[in-house]
Amino acid sequence: MVKENFSLKHYNSFGIDVIAKYFSTFNSINELEGLLESKLITHNPSLITVLGGGSNILFTKDVDGLVLKNDIKGIEQINEDENYVYVKAGAGENWHQLVLYCIDNNLAGMENLSLIPGNVGASPMQNIGAYGVELKNVFFGLEAYHLTEKKIVKFNLKDCGFGYRESVFKKKYKGQFVICNVTYRLNKTPHFNTNYGAIKQELDAMGVKELSIKAISQAVINIRSSKLPDPALIGNAGSFFKNPEISAAQFESLKYSFVNIVGYALDNGNVKLAAGWLIEQCGWKGYRKGDVGCHAKQALVLVNYGNAKGSEILSLSSEIIESVKSTFGVELEREVNII
Ligand code: FAD
Ligand code: EPU
Repeated sequence: MVKENFSLKHYNSFGIDVIAKYFSTFNSINELEGLLESKLITHNPSLITVLGGGSNILFTKDVDGLVLKNDIKGIEQINEDENYVYVKAGAGENWHQLVLYCIDNNLAGMENLSLIPGNVGASPMQNIGAYGVELKNVFFGLEAYHLTEKKIVKFNLKDCGFGYRESVFKKKYKGQFVICNVTYRLNKTPHFNTNYGAIKQELDAMGVKELSIKAISQAVINIRSSKLPDPALIGNAGSFFKNPEISAAQFESLKYSFVNIVGYALDNGNVKLAAGWLIEQCGWKGYRKGDVGCHAKQALVLVNYGNAKGSEILSLSSEIIESVKSTFGVELEREVNII
């Protein structure tokens, strides 16, 4: 049922109280098609906002259109071969529940991506990543509904154009598709990935003697819980900015002035800077003005302490971008989707 003038406060992890002119959930492609035919809604796809768990979105104003929350459910093993099991999940399934399902079924590959908030349908949007693994490492294919052509289109790994926090859905095809289901390719035999420093330390602290996907998942959960704010307690959308990529030459020159600057060498010869470090050096870590702030344990995370407006969070993000640019000459790019 389509609701009118519906508050989205409980549908975004920033907890921003904006009003959607129209709001509905759907739990099948048929239901989605029915909603798109509804007379209430004009057939202008730019008036449609698709919502998953709302954990990577910043609403800066009321939404003058239809917000559609994807609730398509279902997890099934659809195929297997010598090395892999293929798991298909509905876009409305909770991501972490899917990770736990895979771990329970001894299917490896997603354990480093434990506890990322949000739903399956958004996982390809920005090629979610954490602790040395990205979605593309376990992605097999997806089905998406084209809003104007009104048909299902299949995408394989190559079609999705995955990059660091990027895919064709985030920019090139922005607003054109509703992702309906995603198929993942999981390993029957685990290839443990503990390269991300803090994982090894945490496994040691946990006293783990024999490595398992369950132990890695728990280590990741412990690390994440120790530094990232729980959106149920403090509104946030995880990292607000991407970690910027610069040339090795620019890195060397920055290192000359800022000896402790944190950067990681990439395969392409460039260096990825820790944006959290840049922001912290500019004095923003722990900053608070009214209900808007920069988290005290992780400067990359902007927070809503209560009743902040999305526009206030957006302007704090602009101030941070400016000060990082003037201090380091590096331009931060927002990771969160601004609406
Ligand atoms: P939403 O916020 O609902 O939507 C995100 C975008 O995708 C929007 O533009 C929306 O329109 C679009 N969208 C959503 N579903 C669909 C669909 N079915 N079809 C088409 N478009 C769709 N991300 C990481 O990559 N790594 C992390 O480690 C990480 N840690 C986080 C920690 C915290 C505490 C929080 C709050 C967020 C974190 N994030 C992280 C960001 C977030 O969890 C991911 O981006 C997640 O995939 C968002 O899922 P969602 O369902 O909440 O998407
Ligand atoms: N750092 C600081 N100060 C801070 C925060 C970080 O100096 O306040 C420096 C530290 O040197 C630290 C380094 O930055 O060692 C890296 O920090 P962290 O391990 O917390 O990771 P991150 O680069 O801040 C990225 C992702 C996270 C992901 C983690 C783990 C981006 C934009 N963010 O954060 O993803 O969970 O690595 O892999 O790539 C998200 O996308 O929403 C997200 C939370």
